Amino acid sequence: MRHLLFIYLLHTAVAIMPFNTLANIYKYYHMYPPFPEVFGPEDPIIESSYDFIIIGAGSGGSVLANRLTENPNWRVLLIEAGKEEIFLTDWPLLAPVMSITGYNWGYKTEKSDESDNKNSGYCLSMIDGRCNWPRGKAVGGTSVINFMIHSRGSKLDFDRWATDGNDGWSYDDIYPYFLKLEKFIVNKNARGVDENIHGKDGYLDVTIPPWSSKLRDKFLEAGEELGYDIKDCNDYDPTGFCPTQANLRHGRRVSASKAYLRPIRNRKNFILSKRSFVTKIIIDPISKIARGVSFHKNGKDYYVEALKEVILSAGSLNSPQILMLSGIGPREQLIRHGISVIEDLPVGLNLQDHVSMAALTFLVNDSVTITERRMATDFKSTIDYLARGIGPLTVPAGAEALAFVNTRKITESNEINNSNFTMNQFENNHPDIELVFGIGSMAGDVSGSLRSIFGLSDDWYYKVFNHYIGHDAFSIVPIVLHPKSRGQVSLKSANPFEWPRLNANYFDDEEDLNTLVRGIKQAIEVASTNAFKRYNATLLPVKFPGCHHLVFDTDEYWSCVCRQISSTLGHFVGTCKMAPKNSGGVVDSKLKVYGIERLRVVDASIMPSIITGHTNAPTYMIGEKASDMIKEEWN
Ligand SMILES: Cc1cc2nc3c(=O)[nH]c(=O)nc-3n(C[C@H](O)[C@H](O)[C@H](O)COP(=O)(O)OP(=O)(O)OC[C@H]3O[C@@H](n4cnc5c(N)ncnc54)[C@H](O)[C@@H]3O)c2cc1C
Ligand SMILES: *[C@@H]1O[C@H](CO)[C@@H](O)[C@H](O)[C@H]1NC(C)=O
Ligand SMILES: *[C@@H]1O[C@H](CO)[C@@H](O)[C@H](O)[C@H]1NC(C)=O
Ligand SMILES: *[C@@H]1O[C@H](CO)[C@@H](O)[C@H](O)[C@H]1NC(C)=O
Ligand SMILES: *[C@@H]1O[C@H](CO)[C@@H](O)[C@H](O)[C@H]1NC(C)=O
Repeated sequence: MRHLLFIYLLHTAVAIMPFNTLANIYKYYHMYPPFPEVFGPEDPIIESSYDFIIIGAGSGGSVLANRLTENPNWRVLLIEAGKEEIFLTDWPLLAPVMSITGYNWGYKTEKSDESDNKNSGYCLSMIDGRCNWPRGKAVGGTSVINFMIHSRGSKLDFDRWATDGNDGWSYDDIYPYFLKLEKFIVNKNARGVDENIHGKDGYLDVTIPPWSSKLRDKFLEAGEELGYDIKDCNDYDPTGFCPTQANLRHGRRVSASKAYLRPIRNRKNFILSKRSFVTKIIIDPISKIARGVSFHKNGKDYYVEALKEVILSAGSLNSPQILMLSGIGPREQLIRHGISVIEDLPVGLNLQDHVSMAALTFLVNDSVTITERRMATDFKSTIDYLARGIGPLTVPAGAEALAFVNTRKITESNEINNSNFTMNQFENNHPDIELVFGIGSMAGDVSGSLRSIFGLSDDWYYKVFNHYIGHDAFSIVPIVLHPKSRGQVSLKSANPFEWPRLNANYFDDEEDLNTLVRGIKQAIEVASTNAFKRYNATLLPVKFPGCHHLVFDTDEYWSCVCRQISSTLGHFVGTCKMAPKNSGGVVDSKLKVYGIERLRVVDASIMPSIITGHTNAPTYMIGEKASDMIKEEWN
């Protein structure tokens, strides 16, 4: 419903425009058509067999479909449950709105363990005590609803994958794929960017949004004040402060579909079946060879045979679900649901996510932030966006800058000094917190799209922001980069149409909670620098519901707040872990499912440990690398 508000505003804006403005918009759209190349036909004829069948047209699956069809002799079927993007999914600033549309599967987690102990649980302020876990359901997958932030992770992340037994995944091994996938576009707004570390000829546009607020540079200066470099955070060590790099073209969203699928829509050997729900991978129980895929479309059931491989790219929540439905997963669980076990593997375990606290709000005394109310009457911005692809509407979800910081070094140097450096080298030498600087806040979230992402209720909103609705404010979101807690995806039943059971288990390891609290304090420190004094940046002086019994701005208070407002960035990984079989592996370093032939998983779920950044770019990297491995094997 709420996104109708934006359509309404758009129409109003267009209605009052002078003729030459309309002409400019028309011209811009002809020069850079936003969605000219719609896939046809809407319902292609599905043949009985293909060389490769890819399940899921997200970031992983789209890369594969593109690269595998480079060989004209291979016929590839890409099966996707969702539909095409539309005009509204393009608007970067409106990205949060996409989570309240049909482009989101709409999953929620289970409630955290109920106990009388006040010091437990998570997502307690969310409606029904469940966390919202958005996932894209679209041609393009989650990249159609995500925040478009382009972030690779650090050298240490991938070197750790390799030392954990995954040959071919060290930083040196995977780095060429980051260069291969990027089409980096330099612009004047590119403070701190190092052009030399970016690819220029890839499919995926990467750039700095053409517009930035006055506060973005204050945030970067704050970093400098605290002794950090302003730099390109996609360097091998992300530590520092940087403007957000994002997947944008002409100021609009570039999804996996726009980057990788639209350019190949005319390849004869590429078939995309949309609105097609995969129910099972058919595996011969004796030979353990993956034979094909069953799916449901327009009320009909289909079975398609794979002559070479089935490749599962349904994302970190659905790939494990589909494996379990097909007989691959923890034995006891499958038996409980009456599924015959083909291979007993730890599918769905090892779920990792970047937990954060997204309600940290800083009031300012000038009109230097983005508030919904002001945007609603700011026709110039709408016209700038429509006619020229510039202006504040091009800022992805308002996230203007990032910082990667090591809060241990700052606050717990003694402890670190005493610990075993070699053993803890990874943790100690590495950022443990990311800060995302947002040029808006929930105070300005009049329509409610921001709080809807997390499932915070209107009641909660009015309790907190009652006196500050529409007030200028920015936010800094601290994120736990290397959580120690592990969640799980499991089955509710053997019915493929029933949602998977999701357990977040945030703060199961209390160190994660302590880390997040250090992150909050670091964010407050950033906002207290001289850089922000000019705007009198002030922490919202309101206690959050559920934590009134504690003293404001103490560690106990912030711990309580983290349990109340445990927000996700949608960075779920690890549920089909790539690892040696004896260390919890579901797939090997070639991404093949253990014990099964001709079945691979290629998406974010294979990451053995979550990376120091956002998960989309690494998922494209995984898709590119997997494509080369598959080509090598079958050529
Ligand atoms: C709100 C939000 C914001 C985010 N912001 C960022 C960001 O700014 N930067 C960043 O790097 N990362 C971000 N992420 C995370 C990032 O987008 C994901 O990590 C990445 O897109 C995962 O890609 P994937 O290929 O693993 O899965 P997906 O892109 O989720 O693709 C899986 C596809 O499989 C389809 N599918 C699932 N089940 C079935 C079935 N049974 N039958 C047929 N098809 C099926 C789905 O519809 C989907 O299209 C964000 C995530 C969310 C939710
Ligand atoms: C670290 O330990 C050494 C030797 O134990 C000591 O001399 C030094 O002061 C310590 N440094 C810090 C920052 O605590
Ligand atoms: C420190 O780490 C090294 C290397 O992992 C290990 O061999 C050693 O036993 C550790 N020492 C202590 C005191 O834990
Ligand atoms: C700065 O913020 C504080 C706290 O909100 C307020 O009391 C003060 O009047 C503000 N000062 C200016 C100059 O805006
Ligand atoms: C905001 O507050 C700062 C610091 O108190 C002050 O210097 C500045 O003039 C104020 N700005 C406005 C617009 O009131």
